[in-house]
Formats: sequence, structure tokens, C-alpha cells
Amino acid sequence: MKHWRIEQVAWDRFDPTKVDPEIIPLVKAAAMVEKNGGDYALYLGGVFHDDPDFRNAAEYWSVEEIQHGDALGKWAMIADPGWDFDAAFARYRAGFRIKTDADASIRGSRTGELIARCMVETGTSSYYTALGEATEEPVLREVCRLIAADEYRHFKLFYDHMRRYLAREKLSFPRRLRVAAGRIGESEDDELAYAYHCGNEPEDLPYDHDRCIAAYMARAMGAYRLRHIERGMGMIFKAVGLPPRGRLSAVAAKGAWRLLQWRRDRYRRQAAAAASGAAAARAAAATA
Ligand SMILES: [Fe+2]
Ligand SMILES: [Fe+2]
Repeated sequence: MKHWRIEQVAWDRFDPTKVDPEIIPLVKAAAMVEKNGGDYALYLGGVFHDDPDFRNAAEYWSVEEIQHGDALGKWAMIADPGWDFDAAFARYRAGFRIKTDADASIRGSRTGELIARCMVETGTSSYYTALGEATEEPVLREVCRLIAADEYRHFKLFYDHMRRYLAREKLSFPRRLRVAAGRIGESEDDELAYAYHCGNEPEDLPYDHDRCIAAYMARAMGAYRLRHIERGMGMIFKAVGLPPRGRLSAVAAKGAWRLLQWRRDRYRRQAAAAASGAAAARAAAATA
């Protein structure tokens, strides 16, 4: 059922001279979040316990997400041969777990759950498109293109099921909007920040959410261009029931693009300050 397999990627085209070292930490963090997809399938299986069609689709979906993690992890180990994906992922699993034994959605309704999933797939579809276009390394470009295509299909999958539940549950527009906005806001919670920590920072350095999300976002936000935000905004609009291509969507995309640039620059300053603070602490420790 998978649309592609890891073995199909032309790994032998890897070109170390085209690797941007700033992209490697992003790939390591993303690999872990993706590989954790199995837990989300367990959670969704509980939420949709009496819907075998959806449960089946969610099973296939999680197989694809786990493959995203394996492909990104493989690339990161080629780009940085000293990196151990299994060890980093074990560390991640030990410190970050989602609730898998739910019998109802944490979003308050099944429609809400599916809108939240649409937001995640909008984010990943936009991100891998942006990341693939931002890198010159041919294998990572190919991997990102394959993953981005999966993420877009995932969006459509959750969207179609959402429409089915919307007809039944009739979740109001403000509620749909609230769930969507809430899930977008969560993208800066621990899931990615902790993955950045486990993938990139030494084990003796305690986890710090603000430091890690700044380090991650300072790099990740740099990959985006206005066109990625416009496309993502169209998907968000579609998921909440607004016209995806219209004046309102274009205005919202421009506003989001300005906000993203402002936040990217703020994260860059925070990350630079944290890095110089760490360097000063190391220097002080060395002379002590
Ligand atoms: Fe994915
Ligand atoms: Fe996905």
C-alpha cells in the first residue's frame, strides 16, 4: 500500500559537498517525530474504535509516517556517520510519549480530531516541500519530495473522513477554527523541541524547551518562502470550510508570512545568544 519504498531512493547519488550543515539537525529531529507515528495510530484507533474503515486507513497512514522517519534517519546517518539514529530515538521515546489509550479525542469531537490531523499534514506537507527546495543535496531533495507527496495525500485522507464526521456532528465554524488554531499553536510545544534535543544535544545537557525550540525554528523557518505559506494557508482554509483560493486566503497568507519572518529572526537572535552563552560557559569551565 505504500506509495514508495526506502530502497527506491537513489542513495548512491548522495553528494557530501552539497550538504548544508545547518539542515542536518533539522533532519535528525524530524526523523524522530515521524518515526513516532505508530503511537498516533494507537491513539486514533482508540478515538475511532467503532469505525473500522478509518482505523484501517490510520494503520496504513502510520506505516507511511514511520517510513518517513526511517528515510530521514538514514539520510542523517549518511550525512553524519557518527550519528546513531536508534540510540537517539530510544532517548526520545524514553522522554516523550503521547497518550495512546484514549477512547475519545482530546480535541472534543471526531471532527475536531480530524481537523487537527489536517493541520499536522498541512504543516508537514509545506515543511518538506520547503526543506526539499532549500537543500542542494540530491538525495535529501528526493526524500523530501517523496515525503511531501505522502503528506499531501494524508491531508486529503483526513479531510475526506472529516467531511463525513462533520455531516454527522455538525461542529460549528468557530469551533473548527478554534481546533485548527489550537493545533497550529502546539507545533512549538515539546514534540519537536525535545526531538531536537535528543537528536542533537549531548546527553549530559539538560533539556530546555526554549533553547531547543529556538535552535530548531531558527533553522526550520529559514526554509520557507511565501509560496509555501500561500499553499499551506489554502489547505488550512479548506480544512476549516473557507474558500482555499480567494482574497481572504491571500491576505491571511501574507500576514502569516510576515509573522513567520519576524519570529524566525527572533528565534535566530535567541539561538545565537544561547550558543554564545554556552561557548562562554565552556571557556570558563576550561580555565577553572
Ligand atoms: Fe510524515
Ligand atoms: Fe503525514
